[in-house]
Amino acid sequence: MRVLSGIQSSGKVHLGNYFGAIAQFLELQNSGPGNENELLIFIADLHALTSVRDAAKLRELTRDVALDYLALGLDPSRECVALFRQSDIPEVTELMWLLMAVTPMAMLENAHSYKDKIAKGIAPDAGLFTYPVLMAADILAYDSDEVPVGRDQQQHLEMARDIAVKFNQAFDPKYIDRLNAAKGKEDVHGILKVPRARIQESTAVIVGIDGQKMSKSYGNTIDLFGEDKPTQKRIMSIKTDSSPLEAPKDPNATPVHALLKLFASPDEMAEIDRTFREGGKGYGHYKQQLAELFFAKFAAARAKRKELEKDPKAVDEVLAKGAERARERARVVVDRARRAVGIR
Ligand code: ADP
Ligand code: TRP
Repeated sequence: MRVLSGIQSSGKVHLGNYFGAIAQFLELQNSGPGNENELLIFIADLHALTSVRDAAKLRELTRDVALDYLALGLDPSRECVALFRQSDIPEVTELMWLLMAVTPMAMLENAHSYKDKIAKGIAPDAGLFTYPVLMAADILAYDSDEVPVGRDQQQHLEMARDIAVKFNQAFDPKYIDRLNAAKGKEDVHGILKVPRARIQESTAVIVGIDGQKMSKSYGNTIDLFGEDKPTQKRIMSIKTDSSPLEAPKDPNATPVHALLKLFASPDEMAEIDRTFREGGKGYGHYKQQLAELFFAKFAAARAKRKELEKDPKAVDEVLAKGAERARERARVVVDRARRAVGIR
């Protein structure tokens, strides 16, 4: 199976990215001997351009995401793993244009993330509007089978599937017949492979410190690699209601409960649930517990990241090797697409 995913280099990597997406890559990478997965993991620096307008900053953020992935255990020394920059694969931007020719305007106009941004008063440009087509090209350029993401990307994945089917229908005259024959029971082979989203129910939406979805754009994140003190402070600032220490507490009244669930063992969680029900512990206690679990879980990665930072050349080498591998894959697919439309 070929697994592909990306994270935009538009800010620091946070708990939502980790539990929503990165933990799934690591699980797929580490699923043991005989595992057939090829992992293509990239840093979506072209997508980041829709929000970052500072060249030095974009370079820094792109490098940061690479370091984050490596510190967390993505292991490009394995044959089956490639880590690369989106912008190093020009085939992707070429494929995007071919896909634009079959993408309905109405599909893009209905994109939640686009509509949300407009609702927030962001002046839309063509980059933001066509963001899902570039994302479809990212996925389709490698004949990807599965794409691990958080719930917020589900609609983008559905669009990538629709665009692949539309492209196949437009340029492969026999595709519809095969599609009808399969009656939706199986994936039909076409010029472009139709991918599946991989969304883990329990971690599909991680909440931020204010109780909304955790997101860079909401300023409510807990970053994985922030300095100790500000990170501790951030955790201690998680929103709560004003229940006094002795009162029973509603798990839905504060994101602390959902966040603890990500880290606590079943026994620890049972105890947390009990004291929430019975009262007797203040929110400060739970926040402190969360901070301790957070630092314990990410201690090794945080230390490893400090080491990796000392050797920028090694990171460049990883990205160059990853790009070479990814490009080999993309060339095959994009060449197929070029022939299908008649530009070769
Ligand atoms: P952000 O919303 O902070 O800009 P990205 O859009 O760059 O984050 O997300 C990168 C990956 O992390 C995607 O697969 C996305 O689905 C996942 N992700 C981001 N935030 C969350 C969250 N709060 N819960 C679950 N997954 C998330
Ligand atoms: N849009 C994704 C996000 O914001 C990042 C992304 C770009 C991506 N291209 C992708 C994710 C392809 C998965 C596959 O998180």
